[in-house]
Amino acid sequence: MAVDLILKDGIVIVNDRETIQSIAVDNGKIEGFYKQGEEPEGKKIIDCRGLYILPGLIDMHVHLRDLHQSEKEDYETGTMAAAAGGITTVVDMPNSIPPVLTRKVLDEKIASASQKRFVNVGFYAGIGKIFDSSMVPDILGLKVYPHSPLLYGIHFDRKQIEKCVKLAKKHNLPLLFHPDSSSKDDRPRTREEFFHIHSCESEVNSVQAFLDAKVEYEARLHVCHVSCSATARLILEHRAEHTLTAEVTPHHMFLSGDMFPHDDGTAKMLPPLRSPYDTQMLAQALCMKCAIDCVASDHAPHTMPEKTAPFLEAASGIPGLETTLPLMLTEVFEGRISWIDFLRCCCSGPAMILGIPNKGILAQGYDADIALVRRQEWYISGADFQSKAKITPFEGRRVLAKPVTTIVDGQIVYHEGRFMVGPGIVGKVPIRKA
Ligand code: DOR
Ligand code: ZN
Ligand code: ZN
Repeated sequence: MAVDLILKDGIVIVNDRETIQSIAVDNGKIEGFYKQGEEPEGKKIIDCRGLYILPGLIDMHVHLRDLHQSEKEDYETGTMAAAAGGITTVVDMPNSIPPVLTRKVLDEKIASASQKRFVNVGFYAGIGKIFDSSMVPDILGLKVYPHSPLLYGIHFDRKQIEKCVKLAKKHNLPLLFHPDSSSKDDRPRTREEFFHIHSCESEVNSVQAFLDAKVEYEARLHVCHVSCSATARLILEHRAEHTLTAEVTPHHMFLSGDMFPHDDGTAKMLPPLRSPYDTQMLAQALCMKCAIDCVASDHAPHTMPEKTAPFLEAASGIPGLETTLPLMLTEVFEGRISWIDFLRCCCSGPAMILGIPNKGILAQGYDADIALVRRQEWYISGADFQSKAKITPFEGRRVLAKPVTTIVDGQIVYHEGRFMVGPGIVGKVPIRKA
């Protein structure tokens, strides 16, 4: 019997080395690996000579908006951006309008995504005054914003942090948090005040507060977008704890604040861009010290007027789904990041943190979520993004890797700038293993 698809003679990374192999895909799963000439028959064959065959990336931190913020992004454009970026699974943050604090809103998001998606979309929920535990079977984690709670009247004091940690423990979910100990009432009047409010000290203190609460309850904690060397150092001290994981974004690793005039919102995000020293230390924390478990884009789309406004009024957040893979693989091709660290942080690490089985590596029986990538020099241009958000601080940056074909569940979703299926045809809500 012929298998559904053969990815023929591509470059497959095995133990940090490039090997030439073919991968057979059948019934949405990886059927096996074959040497040249030993492949089974395939109903469809893709010539992968010169292409890297990689596990599709898992981006565990994205804001796809939709519902009442579809002018910024929706599940269609957001997942098209993912597919075009070689990302086959995204996990959507709960700070939408309305926020995900109830089963009703979660259901609305799941229903919308199921009609519009081009890749797998998972969800997080926030924690309201009373936690709606009926959401638990369909979410991959809890997410909290101490500096900007999803509900009016919640303050992230010690009691609130403990409540969140206990809930995460009770439901065996990771507790993700945006590390920032400032408060919504801290309104910056100048750029300097903005950076001062969202300082490294504020980031470190926030991580420390969650660590203090974790000691007692041993819940799984995930630190989102670590941006400071001091935070990476603090995490390193707790590395032995298997219940602590940490994430970094490409922009915090590759861009520093001094590279931008900050006249408008082009490079405005939270946490803000830091010093060149911080960027170096984050890259080291990822590669040498293993203090970082995963790379996520924090894809946070906003409209053009919101980003071109003067800095203080501009919205925080930048698109990232279409730049993560090119930026990360450029580091690999230029020898600054190993294949092992790339695959660990972009693919297998997030699958492990989220507890989603059958994703994140290329192995027999695993889901056929695959990115085919060409080594090619090109320059990032926001105008070419599938995302509705087209302003990127990486504009004009030279990169060395181009996603060519993206396969989800064994189906070709994206190929050379074109979408091969309609919205809602492929992709699922990834479910945690029990
Ligand atoms: O810059 C940011 N934008 N940081 C966040 O934490 C939220 C995000 C957003 O939702 O726009
Ligand atoms: Zn955040
Ligand atoms: Zn975010």
